[in-house]
Formats: sequence, structure tokens, C-alpha cells
Amino acid sequence: MDATERYDALKQIKDEVLTLKASPLFKYRNENKYYPVVGEGDHFAKIMFVGEAPGQTEAKTARPFCGTAGKVLDRLIESAGLKREQVYITNLVKDRPPGNRDPKPEEILLYSKFLDRQIEIIQPKVIATLGRFSMAYLMDKFGVSEKDEPISKLHGKAFKVKAEYGPLKLVILYHPAVAVYNPNLFGVLEKDFKKALAG
Ligand code: URA
Repeated sequence: MDATERYDALKQIKDEVLTLKASPLFKYRNENKYYPVVGEGDHFAKIMFVGEAPGQTEAKTARPFCGTAGKVLDRLIESAGLKREQVYITNLVKDRPPGNRDPKPEEILLYSKFLDRQIEIIQPKVIATLGRFSMAYLMDKFGVSEKDEPISKLHGKAFKVKAEYGPLKLVILYHPAVAVYNPNLFGVLEKDFKKALAG
């Protein structure tokens, strides 16, 4: 797909999410004047980050990872010598769950179809999962057998998998929010990311 085709296909996803009345989160979004957060970054990015779901700051601005956890993610991206504009950042669930509760299975089922399409459009070489929800979904999608192990065991690992468009490295990271309350974990995130990218 060329740049225009990618732009159009991603815009189509945005339009569908905007009018997703079937979502259990649609009413909550409108009542609170929130926006869905579909994703942002380079449409030809080699690296895609997949978080869980937008928080309040994200839902107010329609931008992924622009609040406190986003600052951690920005530092992580920088520490790997990259710029935020060079990567693509999205979430498994595109609307904010009330009070930041965990996404429900039916929400994951509904919104993951959009993530699947984003992956096929952008065709990243590396997908870094942020937290256990995107980890579980993507390990299952790509048939990684270790998928039932806890994130405490899997973080920092990179799995070579096959996407429809070619080979892909699935990198398992903790959610950046862990480093907001426990700054020592930033070092773990940084080490995991660098190791996984190199390996
Ligand atoms: N946490 C997430 O998982 N995603 C965001 O976009 C922001 C915070």
C-alpha cells in the first residue's frame, strides 16, 4: 500500500470507531465528551507500540499516551535512540473504560478487529506490547505457545512470529504506568526494550 492508500485505510478505521454505536463504551464516551483514541505516528513505522486503552487525558485529546504514562513511553522511545514521530502508537481498546477499569472480554473482541487492520496496513517489523492485555491478545493472535505465562516471566522477551505480510518480532514490555509509581521499573522497561530490539 502506498502512502495515500495507508492514509485512507487508517482514516476509514477512525471513521468506523467514531460511529461505533455497538460499543459498550460509546455512551460513556459521549456523556463525558471524550474522543476515541485510534492511534498516531508514522504510517510506515518499523515499530508499533500497543497499549491497553486510553486514560482520561488521552480520551480528552484523542491522542494515545499523552498523559503520565505517555511521558514514560516518550522517555523509553528516546532511550532507544528513536523519535515518537518514527513509531506508531495505538491501543488494544480505542475508548476509555470508565474509571480506567480493565477492558472487558467483549470490548477486546470488538476493538481488536481495528488493531488487526492497523497491523496489516502499517506492517511493522516489531510490535511492542505494553501491559498484559495487549500482550495476551497479540501472543494469542500470533500463536505464541508461552501465552499463558505471567508478564513477570515474559517481559523483555521477543518472539519471532509470522504476520500475513511477513516476519514480525513481538516484544513483551511492562505497561509504562508501572514506572510512574515505581521509578526503578523504568530501568527494567529500558533494558527490556533495548535487549528485545537487539535480539
Ligand atoms: N494507557 C494506555 O494503555 N494507553 C494510553 O493511551 C494511555 C495510557
